[in-house]
Amino acid sequence: MSKTTFEFHYGKHHAAYLNNLNGQIAGKDLEKLSIEEVMLKTWNGGSPGPEFNNAAQVVNHTFFWESMSPNGGGKPSGKVAEAIERDLGGYDKFVEAFKAAGATQFGSGWAWLSVNKQGKLEVTKTPNAENPWVHGNTPILTMDVWEHAYYLDVQNRRPDFISNFIENLIDWQRVEQRYLAATNAASSGGACKAARLSSGPPCLHGFVCCKASAQGPSSACVQQCSTRALVLYSAALEYARSERYDVARRVFRKLCTSECPSFVKPWVSWAQMEKRCIPCGDERRWAASRSVLQQGLERNRDAPPLLQAWGLLEMQRGNLLGAVMLLDRSAALEPRNRPVLRWKPVVEARKTVGERRGCGRLQRDIRAAASGGDSCTESDE
Ligand SMILES: [Fe+2]
Repeated sequence: MSKTTFEFHYGKHHAAYLNNLNGQIAGKDLEKLSIEEVMLKTWNGGSPGPEFNNAAQVVNHTFFWESMSPNGGGKPSGKVAEAIERDLGGYDKFVEAFKAAGATQFGSGWAWLSVNKQGKLEVTKTPNAENPWVHGNTPILTMDVWEHAYYLDVQNRRPDFISNFIENLIDWQRVEQRYLAATNAASSGGACKAARLSSGPPCLHGFVCCKASAQGPSSACVQQCSTRALVLYSAALEYARSERYDVARRVFRKLCTSECPSFVKPWVSWAQMEKRCIPCGDERRWAASRSVLQQGLERNRDAPPLLQAWGLLEMQRGNLLGAVMLLDRSAALEPRNRPVLRWKPVVEARKTVGERRGCGRLQRDIRAAASGGDSCTESDE
């Protein structure tokens, strides 16, 4: 896929859907909802409202960009490969079905690999902006087959674009993550009942959450709920960063009213952040966000989630060293925060910072706020 195609597709087409949607919902109640909520609400049970196409196209394209990698393509491995073998008859059959879905979608549309309501993989196609979410399924891979996706590169030869996508672009690691998220709860046994969230940002991540049983959550539940909370938190930060504070506050509230009882208390401390809603985007705002978190740490004994929040904030800001330090400390204090250490961005950040030892002002701040930590003298900041 050429640079020009990327620039036009993302910078013109994707941007146009977003700008058009913003124009359509300005001043309406829809403006207070997340993009996923707008999409699901305006789908209107199959009688879409005028905003649906733009909302769904924004969601679809975001999912599409995150389905590709510069070093992607080829055969998958892991659980998703096993599922392709089991549900679709093997990789070759998947390729055949995915190519057919993309090539035979008349006019504009999308090809999908999804986990259906029975937990099985299926390959489907949808016209225009329609997608599997509106039908209650959880996509884990998509391919845009609108003409604007390939015409600059291969003109009318859509099959060439499809072959290139399959052979060189599919990010199977991401697809594997989405598959695991969509199926973990269902496969964890009787104590957990998978409950696919029907709306809200986590759905985009192919996310499922376990409801606690009468005996309390199983260990699989704990991991799922912990991840859910982190995804909710990340979504809230994104909305706050784009200054959509109403949506960010609602996502924070969703965090604080988690249906998993053992997770309610730690996350309630984040309500402090809700008040300020973590505005960020420039240095001054980052400093303000950090200040809010430090104050929270000083006042609140539930320090690990705040350390974790601070770590994620530093990661978004690009301070990988600080992020790793904060997330490590959070996980050391609170085992339930450990799943974040297995997140790909955190693993990558750790590789990037390597053996560097960072102290400086940030570490002193962490020590002061959380009363502990290694002593250092050097400064990396
Ligand atoms: Fe597109």
